[in-house]
Amino acid sequence: MHRGPGAGSLRRSLRVAVTLRSPAVPAYTHDAVLAWGIGARLGDRLQEGPTHADDRPTTIVVVDTRASGPTQQYIVHGRASIPGWFVQQDAELFALLSALQHEEGVVGDLLEIGVYQGRSAVLLGYLTGPDERVILCDLFGSSPDATPDIRHDLQGYDGLDLETFAAHWHRFHAGEPGEIVVGRSSRLEGRSWDRPVRFIHIDGGHTYDVVRDDISIARDALADAGGVVVFDDVRASHAPGVGAAVWAAVESGGLVPFAQSWKLYASWDAQFAARAADAVFRAMPCTDHVVRDHRLVEVHERRRSRSTSTHRWTPPALVPAASKLRRSLRAAARRPKR
Ligand SMILES: C[S@@+](CC[C@H](N)C(=O)[O-])C[C@H]1O[C@@H](n2cnc3c(N)ncnc32)[C@H](O)[C@@H]1O
Repeated sequence: MHRGPGAGSLRRSLRVAVTLRSPAVPAYTHDAVLAWGIGARLGDRLQEGPTHADDRPTTIVVVDTRASGPTQQYIVHGRASIPGWFVQQDAELFALLSALQHEEGVVGDLLEIGVYQGRSAVLLGYLTGPDERVILCDLFGSSPDATPDIRHDLQGYDGLDLETFAAHWHRFHAGEPGEIVVGRSSRLEGRSWDRPVRFIHIDGGHTYDVVRDDISIARDALADAGGVVVFDDVRASHAPGVGAAVWAAVESGGLVPFAQSWKLYASWDAQFAARAADAVFRAMPCTDHVVRDHRLVEVHERRRSRSTSTHRWTPPALVPAASKLRRSLRAAARRPKR
């Protein structure tokens, strides 16, 4: 069907008109559509008034949280064509946090420990800016580190070889990844990180010792300001060592968790962590928690599209009351009629 040149602009002005009529607009500026509605541009810093009596005003950076173009295509469609465990919710979180970093001027490489066939690594490739590289580390079967005991641990990973990974990578990217380290992540210990690293995905070995050592690698590598580290399977009952190592780093290593899905998102920059929690809360359906005085948002799966949009437009102070009302309405609807 041919669309005349006016169709796009009509749709755009309708979206902005709807935005302008909403009373919640001044407080909700993270979405680019909302930002246009109040005349703000991407990258602007806006003051938001306190939502609770004891809160201080916060500064919001206007970020387009909706990944677009090839990145969005990959998140929604291409991602599923690569075997792996990287779900859409986390892919969206990766894109959102990477956008926030770029808006704040945080520049650096992206590191992944635990690549398998490349499902999450390919997304990292889309998130790199100019002069940023992806560094990947995995045993890839052929590694000299893949001793019989390691091979035993890798039994669930069919197709774990460099060729399979490379075939997937090249379906989406023309160039090569910046660097591939074939072997255990311990090969990264003591390395001099001569380029800044801004984003690290730890999804390799899931035992306590390995994760504890990977955290220490991440601490050395990650940029002090605005760095993000993501841990897989922190809540998984089959991998209790992951949570044990990560929460120990929170308790005594200065790590600040700010968002949780099946993965845990954290930073060693407490102020950035607070802004990141805020950005995630505005963009996705979340429940607020506080852990060791830090705001930690629990991200819900996007099954409930109606409540997602309601949630976005509800002032934070009213979210618990709105959720309670929704639950009672649902319960009333389920109750058998007499
Ligand atoms: C869960 S998979 C990674 C999934 C991948 N990130 C994705 O989203 O599809 C875990 C990977 O970690 C690798 N691995 C296990 N122990 C490791 C270690 N000590 N160092 C580096 N990689 C390791 C395995 O070979 C496997 O490919």
